[in-house]
Amino acid sequence: MVDVSRIATQEKSEAGEHLLPGKAGISADTVEEVARYLRQGNPLSIGDGSGIIERLEHRLEELLGIQNVLTCSSGTAALHSAYLALDLPTGSEVIAPVTTFHASVTPALQCGLSPVLVDVDPDNGNISPAALRAAITERTRCVVVTHNLGHPVELDEIAEICRTHGLRLIEDCSHAYLSTYRGRPVGTVGDVAVWSMQAAKTLVAGEGGFLATKDRAIFERACLAGHYRGRSEKQITDPRLRAFADTGLGLKYRLHPLAAVIAWSEAGHLVERVARRRRLLTRLSTRLTGIPGVQPPRVRDEVTMGGWFSYRPTLVPSGGCPAEDYERIVGALQEAGVPAHRPSIGSLDAMPLFTTPPPLDHAVATWRPRLCGPFDGARAYEKNRLSVTVTASDTLDRIEAYADAFADVMGERTGLPAGGGR
Ligand SMILES: Cc1ncc(COP(=O)(O)O)c(C=O)c1O
Repeated sequence: MVDVSRIATQEKSEAGEHLLPGKAGISADTVEEVARYLRQGNPLSIGDGSGIIERLEHRLEELLGIQNVLTCSSGTAALHSAYLALDLPTGSEVIAPVTTFHASVTPALQCGLSPVLVDVDPDNGNISPAALRAAITERTRCVVVTHNLGHPVELDEIAEICRTHGLRLIEDCSHAYLSTYRGRPVGTVGDVAVWSMQAAKTLVAGEGGFLATKDRAIFERACLAGHYRGRSEKQITDPRLRAFADTGLGLKYRLHPLAAVIAWSEAGHLVERVARRRRLLTRLSTRLTGIPGVQPPRVRDEVTMGGWFSYRPTLVPSGGCPAEDYERIVGALQEAGVPAHRPSIGSLDAMPLFTTPPPLDHAVATWRPRLCGPFDGARAYEKNRLSVTVTASDTLDRIEAYADAFADVMGERTGLPAGGGR
């Protein structure tokens, strides 16, 4: 059996960039940027969107091919701003995939909107266009999609459904930095797109997020939602909105300038990081393809994976995989040094916020989620799936060792010789 722990991780990327310890893979030059920012006495609160906030937003626009970027204190804040900016009538329904991080849709609850959860594609956990179509009612006004784990949704079909039914489309791109769909960057098809820059994401601010939209009116309303005074006075042209610039809509969603420095510096490494991660995970998938009983994540021909937020193969041993077998295989992989585990977050249909009226008068007044089960696609997607943690400091040697360990563990189970098609 290979001893994965003996294989060194790297402190330097292939481009020579020094990495700091920790999962996020922060670059050492980011420390210098933060120190320089502080040493120079730069502002620690920016109310008008200037300085490092403006520089970061321009860098994101160029990198991701997007327009009108508005940075926010988190991805959740950016999503809340997006829902507020769409200005939908109270009680409108927002259709969302049942398999996503809750914050893709929970901010809609704070806008008096009703989440409608629909089934997903069993291959990739993305919203199923058929389930989306079937859930539309006369109250539907919006669809939110998540490019789950970095795999773009069926954007052409979903955009067409939205056009036909007059629905707004939000793209949650938090997992999908630099992913493309039929050659187009994600985040450029919907009315508004949102990214998180939380510490586990491909682009890290620590805590932070941003939205982008082609529609200047949406940008201005989002700005008013969380960026009162300086920024609203400077960037809002609609006189009816500008009249409220002093308070905005009452929220404060500015990004911390130090988080902006971190994200600005890290953004300079994004393309190389994503390319490197893609090389490692593509190699892992190639190796796992040759091992009986393991199905690597499926990637459709018309997309490219960008950030590839988390690597999740499925165990498919012949004769099925009863629960105790799953635990035993994951345990054996861990013992062999593979950082494999059961994905920690389940789908939304099991979460109290979507099934039980919260015991708060203000929340319950407009609380009306609708669950369009059964969620056969979600159950099939989740079944026997496991997560393998691959970080910025992992090397190709480590990836080969993980694949060798999979081959050993699955070979023991099936009685087939180990090797995994190397
Ligand atoms: C798909 C998705 N959307 C939204 C969010 C929320 O972002 P944040 O944690 O920055 O508020 C996350 C965070 O994990 C996410 O994974």
